[in-house]
Amino acid sequence: MTNNRTSLTITMPDDWHVHLRSDALLAHVLPFSTKHFGRAIVMPNLQPPVISTKDATRYQQQIQALLPQESHFTPLMTLYMTEQTDAEDVRQGYLSGHINAVKLYPAGATTNSAAGVKNIENIYPVLEVMEEIGMPFLVHGEVVDNDIDIFDREAVFIDTKLIPIRQRFPKLNIVFEHLTTKEGVDYVQSCDNNTAATVTPHHLVINRNAMLVGGIKPHYYCLPVAKREIHRLALVKAVTSGDIHFFLGTDSAPHVDHAKESSCGCAGVFNVANTLSIIAQVFEQENALDKLEGFTSLHGPAFYKLPINTHKICLKRSAIPLPLPKNIDTEEGSITVFDPQIDLHWKAENI
Ligand code: NCD
Ligand code: ZN
Repeated sequence: MTNNRTSLTITMPDDWHVHLRSDALLAHVLPFSTKHFGRAIVMPNLQPPVISTKDATRYQQQIQALLPQESHFTPLMTLYMTEQTDAEDVRQGYLSGHINAVKLYPAGATTNSAAGVKNIENIYPVLEVMEEIGMPFLVHGEVVDNDIDIFDREAVFIDTKLIPIRQRFPKLNIVFEHLTTKEGVDYVQSCDNNTAATVTPHHLVINRNAMLVGGIKPHYYCLPVAKREIHRLALVKAVTSGDIHFFLGTDSAPHVDHAKESSCGCAGVFNVANTLSIIAQVFEQENALDKLEGFTSLHGPAFYKLPINTHKICLKRSAIPLPLPKNIDTEEGSITVFDPQIDLHWKAENI
């Protein structure tokens, strides 16, 4: 099949995994999310983390205060799981509609994860409640053991952590966040529909060479780290197949340039400024533009049992490549926009 489409109208997308940060950074990055996304699952790894329903409500108000008047955007709030998380607060937060999910950060796995979970069995009482009420459990799926190679950490997490959790809580709704490996794709595809995965735009277009060949490129360093090409290809195949286990989570994670361009640079890429252009390019390349709306706008709401967005957006193809936004300026410094290393022809427009 050849593709000669030049425009595509789709249900407004949602972002099922984003770091909006707080204060000055929030004000700068939020407009990129509100522009073309109806909702976003807002990650709770602030400093200090968003641990209780009260914290999340305060954070949500901070976001809402910065929304443009004509915005259709709804921030969906998550709690940061700790070994002290109060199961009753989780239950009430979810049933009252204030909280949509709880996120697991294995302690030490990524940015601001020090307060995360060391011994997974200590959170079993909270998981029991979440299973009972149908609340999604979002997982940063990497082990942190020093003796496990960083490129193997996702696959080892599946075998040693996720499979036991799944066996113990067969009805729990689990999202494997920012999936990066073929092992992860195979695992998620082997599961029932109460397991799903988010996939980022960057893991669909770069492999680890982008970060390591020709000089070290800190703006391609994120966690989970990009893997070999076979893993990227497995992710592309999975999302463009139309499989409902997979939906878009940008994992847009802005850090100012001086924090990334350092002898110990932070993990995270800021991609939300060109996410939809990248996604359209990937689906076009695979002759799968007809599957794009499922990935960006339909599979996520189905998993979260939320209605799809009523607004639509249009993706328009330009014959010449679009200029790429390079960076945004903030009071705390410049933030580099993710460069996908491919020409982008598709532009998202509100209609
Ligand atoms: C995220 C961040 O900076 O908050 N970084 C990243 O590389 N993705 C944390 C995370 O999601 O792991
Ligand atoms: Zn993230």
